[in-house]
Formats: sequence, C-alpha cells, structure tokens
Amino acid sequence: MSGPNTDYDPVEVAAVSPAEVEAARDAALAAIAAATDLERLKVVRSEHTGDRSPLALANREIGALPPQARKEAGQRIGQARGAVNQAFGARQAELEVEHEARILVEEAVDVTLPTDRDPVGSRHPLTTGAELIADIFVAMGWEVAEGPVIEAEWLNFDALNLGPDHPARTMQDTFWTDPGEDHLVLRTHTSPVQARTMLSRGVTDDAPIYVVCPGRVFRTDEYDATHSPMFHQVEGLAIDKDISMAHLKGTLDHFASQMFGEGITTRFRPSYFPFTEPSAEVDLVCFVCRGVNPEACRTCRGEGWIEWGGCGIVNPRVLQACGIDSSRYSGFAFGMGIDRTLMFRHGLEDLRTLFEGDVRFTTAFGSEL
Ligand code: PHE
Repeated sequence: MSGPNTDYDPVEVAAVSPAEVEAARDAALAAIAAATDLERLKVVRSEHTGDRSPLALANREIGALPPQARKEAGQRIGQARGAVNQAFGARQAELEVEHEARILVEEAVDVTLPTDRDPVGSRHPLTTGAELIADIFVAMGWEVAEGPVIEAEWLNFDALNLGPDHPARTMQDTFWTDPGEDHLVLRTHTSPVQARTMLSRGVTDDAPIYVVCPGRVFRTDEYDATHSPMFHQVEGLAIDKDISMAHLKGTLDHFASQMFGEGITTRFRPSYFPFTEPSAEVDLVCFVCRGVNPEACRTCRGEGWIEWGGCGIVNPRVLQACGIDSSRYSGFAFGMGIDRTLMFRHGLEDLRTLFEGDVRFTTAFGSEL
C-alpha cells in the first residue's frame, strides 16, 4: 500500500535552502545595483522577481515542504523577496532622478540664443536699385558704362561746355583734390561718363551710342534728410541720327512707368544746363495721388508732380568737344538721383537711411531682385 510521502526530501526542495535563497537574493541585489539605467533595471526586475525567477520558483516549492519546515522557509523567502523588492524600488527612484537630471542637461535649449547664428546678409538696396535701373535700359538694347569717381576737371566741366569762367560751375559745389594743379575733382555728376563714352568709342551710323551710367557723385552739401555730400546718379546718353526731344520723352516715360508702375509718366519744364540745349527739368506724375486730388497729397504737396531730374538735347558744343560730327549726329541726355528714385520707390523719408549701414534696413529692402 502506498501512502503520502511524509519524509522531507532535501533534493527535491533544494531551492528553499538558506544558502540557495541567500544566493538568489544576493544575485538579485547585485544585479539591481549594477543596473545603470531604467531599461536595464526593467530586465533585471523580470529576471529576479518574475514568475520564472529563482525566488519565485523557491516560493512555489514551499508547499512541497513538510509542515514543520514551511513557516521557516516561507519567512526566509519572504524576507529575501522583500529585500529584493525594496532594493528594486530604491534603485528605480534613484535612476529616475538621474534620468531627469540627464535629460535636463542633454536636451537643454537656450531660448535666448539668436535664431540665426550665421546670417547670410543681403545686398544693399542701392546696389539692387542701380541694377534694376540698368536692367530697364539693357532691356531696350542700351549698354551700361562706368567711370572713375576722381575725375579730370576737364571731363567733369570743360568738355561739358562748362568753361573755367562759366557761372554754372558754382551750381555744383565741388570737392577739389590736393594739389590743385592736378586739376582733379570728385565728380559732381555722372555726366563726365558721357564725355568719356563719346571720346573712347565715337559714333557711326552702324554703332550709335545708347549708354546708361549709374554711379557715385559728390558735392559739398550738408548731410540731412534730403542732402548728402555723397550720393548716386544715373545718366543716360543716346547719340544717333535725327534724335529729338520726342525720343527723350518716350524713353523717360518708359523708365518712369517701369520704375513706379503703369500710368506714371513724365512732364518737362524748361530749364538750363550748359551741356544740353534745349534743357528741361523732368517731373514724375505723383506716384501717391497720381495727380488726382493733389490738394490732399502730402507727398507732392498739392502739385500732382514730383521733381525727378534734368535732361535735354546734347549741346552741339559738347559733341564737338568729344569728337563727334554735330552736323550728322544729335543726341539726348538725362540724369537723376538714384537715391531719390529709391526713396520714392520705397517710401523712405530720410536719405540717410541709405548710407548708415544698418543691416535691419538693408535686409528689409535689399532682398528685392
Ligand atoms: N548732370 C546734371 C546734374 O547733375 C543732370 C543732367 C544730366 C542734366 C544730363 C541734363 C542732362 O544736375
């Protein structure tokens, strides 16, 4: 007859022996201490407290013990599991704090840093503006010409019918260079580029001259909201057969409407320049009120027109001084301030903003193509 096995079988229940339980506990505690991050701790937890962990298996063995041994083994295993759980909880809290601290350092964002630490900058509106003007003329088949800013007195004045005693020399307050006998000036206008072009390349029936000359000019003016001792002009010169005021008017009307929009045309008022005859001041239709109810317009102050520049038919004396046969060829010329033109175009109130190098201004206006 077989009966219940009441004998204590030390082989079958080896897992609950004090040495085994202690070893399992120590292994768990060591693994918990060695876990350096939360992910590793999670793995350690399932290995040492999960269903298949040595202590869980030992716990299950308790039932197989003779009643007298159960209490003691239960206490031993319970204490071991408690110690492991407690160590686990403490390590978990420790690693969480560490994790938080590391995230704060690693993922820190300094919201006070400038958004763009390597700004690309932009081109100056005077550069893009001069190019825009040149492009309008290049589209009509004109060439672009440039000349030096330190200019021979003869080219700046004499060649343009402004002899040494000509009263109009005083109209342009001139910076002279030292020593005076060099007869050099900071050019007072871009008109000497006309003379240079005519002298350097002459004119033939097959090669008429159509040039536009943007550039920097100098006069001994005050520096204020509408004047500067250094500013920019654009000069136009056309020399061909049978050139008339009508060609000049048509060209300037086209230039004005390209620059300021459809419907902005020009009018001429009689004037005087030594290098042109007849001469005229050019006015633009006011681009703000467009001549409608100008009384209320603050830009043209009731005029309906805005002064833009000077122009005329090239004086035959200038053609002769520059080696051109004035009986075969005639021409027109015009000149106006680029700075002033850009002030109109962008609604700028102070000329100085164009010269003071504030990058906030440059980036606001310099991105125009
Ligand atoms: N050079 C003249 C000025 O500076 C402008 C101008 C150019 C007038 C060409 C007529 C012809 O005032």
